[in-house]
Amino acid sequence: MVTPHLNSNISDISDVVIISGDPLRAKYISKNFLKNSIQINNVRSMFGYTGYYKKKRISIMSHGMGIPSLSIYVNELVSEYNVKKIIRLGTCGGINKKVKIKDIVFAMGASTDSSINRLRFGGYDFSSISDFKMLYQAYIISKNYNFNVHIGNIFTTDSFYGKDSIFFNLIKKFNILAIDMETSGLYSLSSELKFKSLSICTVSDEIFSKKKITSLEREKTLNNSILISLDLALLN
Ligand code: HPA
Repeated sequence: MVTPHLNSNISDISDVVIISGDPLRAKYISKNFLKNSIQINNVRSMFGYTGYYKKKRISIMSHGMGIPSLSIYVNELVSEYNVKKIIRLGTCGGINKKVKIKDIVFAMGASTDSSINRLRFGGYDFSSISDFKMLYQAYIISKNYNFNVHIGNIFTTDSFYGKDSIFFNLIKKFNILAIDMETSGLYSLSSELKFKSLSICTVSDEIFSKKKITSLEREKTLNNSILISLDLALLN
């Protein structure tokens, strides 16, 4: 089977997929966490891999940046490859004072400035939410590891640049924990196409203090959310 953006055989992709924006992150997870891994996609260098974690067959697929790019890969994975569960392993910018770099945010819901959900939902405002069971399971996993996690509403933006302090203060006032570029689109697709999903984001920068993790720190820091995602992928 070949879709416009995936050149994998249907049997090459597990029904549980961890997705991540950066193709090199997908490669890193495959190399360091999976056994007997094979590469399942190289179209546009948007690398994907399938291998084994604790005897469970899991796929890791990259999706690029923003809702439009993510939506292409998620649509094809679900509609053509019968994927049933998607865990997004991403990064986000911390908005709430308590959300510090290297912390992990589980997006219970996602607000957005993107119009894509309205376009698809008859002009109404769709409430984009995670799968409750996955959120609960991820919470238990993170407590067992003793990782610092926050659970709540995040904001998915179409524009990484150009936001001002009036905007950031507004979303802070409404208890938004963090900002990313994909989760709202992932969650509305999960409702529409009937697959389960949870977005797990490591805080790579703090919006108000302007603190950032370095690219060297990024690899190590993401290991915690990789472990949560892989353990979550094991569960039914
Ligand atoms: N804004 C939007 N998306 C992000 C950010 C950010 O500051 N950091 C990581 N993903």
